[in-house]
Amino acid sequence: MTEKKRLLTGDRPTGKLHLGHLVGSLNNRVRLQHQYETFLLVADLHMLTTKNQPEHIALVDKNAHDMVLDQLAAGIDPEIVTFYLQSGIPEINEMYTLFQSLVSVARLERVPSLKDMARDANIEMPLALLGYPVLQAADILCVRGDLVPVGKDNIAHVEVTREIARRFNHLYGETLPVPDGMVGEVPTLVGTDNNAKMSKSLNNAIYLSDTNDEVVKKVKGMYTDPNRVSADVPGTVEGNPVFDYHDAFNPNKEEVEDLKTRYRAGKVGDVEVKDKLSLAINNLLDPMRERREIYDVTGRVEDILVQGTLKAREETKQTLFAMKKAMGLTGVMNRIRRKAEKYNKKMEKGNS
Ligand code: TRP
Repeated sequence: MTEKKRLLTGDRPTGKLHLGHLVGSLNNRVRLQHQYETFLLVADLHMLTTKNQPEHIALVDKNAHDMVLDQLAAGIDPEIVTFYLQSGIPEINEMYTLFQSLVSVARLERVPSLKDMARDANIEMPLALLGYPVLQAADILCVRGDLVPVGKDNIAHVEVTREIARRFNHLYGETLPVPDGMVGEVPTLVGTDNNAKMSKSLNNAIYLSDTNDEVVKKVKGMYTDPNRVSADVPGTVEGNPVFDYHDAFNPNKEEVEDLKTRYRAGKVGDVEVKDKLSLAINNLLDPMRERREIYDVTGRVEDILVQGTLKAREETKQTLFAMKKAMGLTGVMNRIRRKAEKYNKKMEKGNS
């Protein structure tokens, strides 16, 4: 049997996941988990590059838990997928240091997303944020990932990873795989308020963890054609988020076409269109709710994350060792380490 290629991707622990995440990345992860040996990262160190206040850090634990649980609910199988916490693998940082000589400041200054992130966070570019793609290279290369599915704005980061891997191999000999980035083709899901993007901070999201009633309530409150003051006024389907959602989440295409036709003709009320939408979304979320119950027992999610982190750490140690060996660092290191150990032992003896 040939070994499966490795897929690696991850998120900063900013909180629970919503329908935008589902269509944007989660569905893809669930589909690809059987095809690739999959690693899913909780990038808490990356979060620190823009959010380093104690109140942000205090939320990491819960957010990491919620994010992993949401992915399990969505159908990620922890028997075959490895979840890992970035800060639980100190070797990632060591790798990050070794990569820093392989990329120039000018190159990183040309990565557009970093400037955007600094602007959005209202901060002057921290060194950590400039190094964001380099840390990301360590995340990807530590488990020797082959395929990296990311959002559009992150594809430039994967490009930096590719350059670093190539540069490393060129300088020190073939050691690291050069991963491929992969951007999904699905358009970004709009918010319930018709804002271009579903997002927690815009308060326009339907969460995977929402209850049946919450979904009904949010759909009832959804933005729709504002010119349609009553059911007999012809409405616009295009660019109407209610119909965008029908397209995305209602598997009954015939029903959707019928609703569209009647909506355009002024022959259906908003209530019916929205009721059918909340039903479709709830049908989609029901099996996730069932799985959530199975995994949402004390310690289970944490256990999955701990086990995964241990496994990814072993992989990282192997990669780091191979890197140091290629660089010629192991000889010096081992000698110094042995000396230090001897010295420590002597001190211990002396103290007892
Ligand atoms: N940069 C990703 C984000 O925008 C998170 C992330 C960190 C990541 N390390 C990664 C994604 C490695 C893919 C691979 O949230």
